[in-house]
Amino acid sequence: MAERSVTIECSGNELRYDIRIGGGILERTGRSARRALGPDCCRIVIISNRKVFGLYGKIVETSLREAGFEPSTWLMGDGERYKNMRSLQAALGFMASAGLARTDAVVALGGGVVGDLAGFASSIYLRGVDFIQIPTTLLAMIDSSVGGKTGINTDFGKNTIGAFHQPKGVLIDVRTLSTLPKRELTAGFCEAIKQGAVAGNDLFDQTSQMLERYSAKRRAWQSDRDFQRSISEMIAAHVAFKAEIVSGDQFETVTRKDGRSRKILNFGHTLAHALERATDYKYLKHGEAVGYGILYAAELSKALALMDEKSVNLLYDVVHRAGALPPLDDIDQKVVFEAFRFDKKHIARTLQMVLLKGIGNPVIVSGNDIAQASHSQALNRLFNK
Ligand SMILES: NC(=O)c1ccc[n+]([C@@H]2O[C@H](COP(=O)([O-])OP(=O)(O)OC[C@H]3O[C@@H](n4cnc5c(N)ncnc54)[C@H](O)[C@@H]3O)[C@@H](O)[C@H]2O)c1
Ligand SMILES: [Zn+2]
Repeated sequence: MAERSVTIECSGNELRYDIRIGGGILERTGRSARRALGPDCCRIVIISNRKVFGLYGKIVETSLREAGFEPSTWLMGDGERYKNMRSLQAALGFMASAGLARTDAVVALGGGVVGDLAGFASSIYLRGVDFIQIPTTLLAMIDSSVGGKTGINTDFGKNTIGAFHQPKGVLIDVRTLSTLPKRELTAGFCEAIKQGAVAGNDLFDQTSQMLERYSAKRRAWQSDRDFQRSISEMIAAHVAFKAEIVSGDQFETVTRKDGRSRKILNFGHTLAHALERATDYKYLKHGEAVGYGILYAAELSKALALMDEKSVNLLYDVVHRAGALPPLDDIDQKVVFEAFRFDKKHIARTLQMVLLKGIGNPVIVSGNDIAQASHSQALNRLFNK
């Protein structure tokens, strides 16, 4: 299958890397890594988890070896709860014991959890070594592997310690999606809807059309090459959009409030983070929480007369097309409200929320401008009360 390539560039910075997308990319990991890392890179630590490494580790390892690298592997626990200080310390210890030098590199093979932790470990080990992302979930392919945000969770919150550290390359093999559980696909599609909603009609329509085909061909991921081609195109479009936003605002400038600042990628995330926190990060997948977050932001946008009913209904339709979201019945709304207080998007003690004036027209609104009654009403609608 033809390979697509998106290049990310940041003006005024040395940052420039390729994102390769297609089927069969894993078999060419070694060659791509050599091109991205240069001739001096010798040792590579692959960070993954048992499940993903069991599926795809050997292909990656063999390809790296064939390109003259010396790979060794460290496997972390599987799940959000392992994206923590303990895993970080163990990863750094492994990198040191593997003799990783300044010219060497890390390869993250897995979903966003592996990517965030491996990226952060490589940002601080020897004050920074190169790393390559090989995302294997839809969410990681369209979102977390691109843009350079890395980090871990702590007792005081999610992603509260981290760094901006751009990868040297991103290798996206869409065939890995064939083994992804259904809920993870739904979660990834919710992030895709979020991205489409702030990007504009083209990306939004492409995503929603993909979802129509995805529902019809749920069981034919592996064999349907046509389908793989369309999903590669969709991922490439998402990556290009994210690259454009990140290029214009690499470090998410706190003072920016315009419709092309990096903050707009947080659309749907205020409620998402609150729901995740209120359920101790155990009940909902991050992307599922974003699904609810999109609907919440849509309801608030309507309450503030920014968006019409038709666009709100469209968002409901597309989110439902992504798959069933776990019910919210057992979650206490008061606990969700309380969790808003911990949101990282507080600037100068005020919560900033990304709302929509329509598809592709995001606006950043201060929490002070949203009446408590509007919040309650929006939440009631989601909780069906
Ligand atoms: N850095 C960023 O910019 C950014 C952006 C969005 C999300 N994130 C982070 O990403 C994380 C969520 O990532 P995620 O949704 O990929 O979750 P994840 O990494 O936990 O992966 C989900 C599950 O799928 C399994 N898996 C991965 N690839 C597979 C495959 N091909 N086949 C079968 N199983 C597979 C994993 O082992 C895991 O059990 C969160 O920690 C979130 O904070 C970061
Ligand atoms: Zn997200």
